[in-house]
Amino acid sequence: MIRSDIKALAAYHVPDSSGMIKLDAMENPFPMPEELRKQWSDTVAAVDINRYPDADMGALRGKIAVHAGVSADQILLGNGSDEIIQMILLTVCAGTCVVPAPTFVMYDLISHWLKRPVASVPLSAGFHLDADQFLQVCAREKAEVAFLACPNNPTGNLWPEATIRKIAEGFNGLLVIDEAYGPFSERTHTNLIANNVMVLRTFSKLGWAGLRLGYLIGEAEQIAHINKVRMPYNINALTQGSASFLLDHFDVFEQQAAEIRAERKRVMARLSAMATVEPFPSQANFVLLRVPEADSVFDQLKQRGILVKNMNSARGLLANCLRITIGAKAENDAVLQALGEILI
Ligand SMILES: Cc1ncc(COP(=O)(O)O)c(C=O)c1O
Repeated sequence: MIRSDIKALAAYHVPDSSGMIKLDAMENPFPMPEELRKQWSDTVAAVDINRYPDADMGALRGKIAVHAGVSADQILLGNGSDEIIQMILLTVCAGTCVVPAPTFVMYDLISHWLKRPVASVPLSAGFHLDADQFLQVCAREKAEVAFLACPNNPTGNLWPEATIRKIAEGFNGLLVIDEAYGPFSERTHTNLIANNVMVLRTFSKLGWAGLRLGYLIGEAEQIAHINKVRMPYNINALTQGSASFLLDHFDVFEQQAAEIRAERKRVMARLSAMATVEPFPSQANFVLLRVPEADSVFDQLKQRGILVKNMNSARGLLANCLRITIGAKAENDAVLQALGEILI
């Protein structure tokens, strides 16, 4: 009855973080300012939940389009960008999906759910991406789709613009440039959008992870096709109402992102000064670092009430690496102090 490859899978595991300093999932650490929270509650309370939500979401897409500098018919909304990755992989012709390694796991996972082969192109030490090698693998595999997370998760680095442009121009399939960490990086890629190039974004990292809202930007014709596999009413009414309200107060979240970027700089400087820690440059709201004995450091951080992400089990380039989300100042100080004590 159940496919054997699905039986062999483990369900996506989210560790229990109750009562802990939570620095494992790249969330924005700041609660919504109190005055804004009150106005937002009024907005949510006015939503008619006895009715299905707006199915087309023209007004919300319009607002997001203004924000992204494109037109509303170039925007597709998803229940998190994860759902959009699934829609893309459902829509594109059968054929290999090419991704760098390591990168965000959902490209590979969802491809496998949908029986799509995946080919990965290993990053070199320092997490560099070789555009020629990537294009060679795409050609060899006759790939139909490729994902590039810019900045990349879990490494945090942003590949040079020339690398992304070369792949965008040299690949015949659909290239998805995933800008989940765009709010924390120095560059976006909407200038590369073409018939076969799309940009994927999410509001999760900017402070609305609980709403589950992501969007895809592409040429209108391609967006219209992918929209055909979107579940009716995929964005619930509370999320629609909330997002529409919060987009009118976007400066609050941009300010928070600026604070997170400033904290990242401070945390990087402190980590770089620790003799046994090797932090890697980051353009995201997290930092990847290599420590001696990552499993033990992870456990000791946990014992002190701090939850980070242990990447060590992936081995290879991620051996002995931890991924730490940039939190509020006090949270960052707590993790820095704990690392200092653990690694003396
Ligand atoms: C590169 C990348 N893309 C997409 C996502 C998924 O984000 P969302 O919360 O919008 O599903 C993540 C989440 O960690 C990510 O790291």
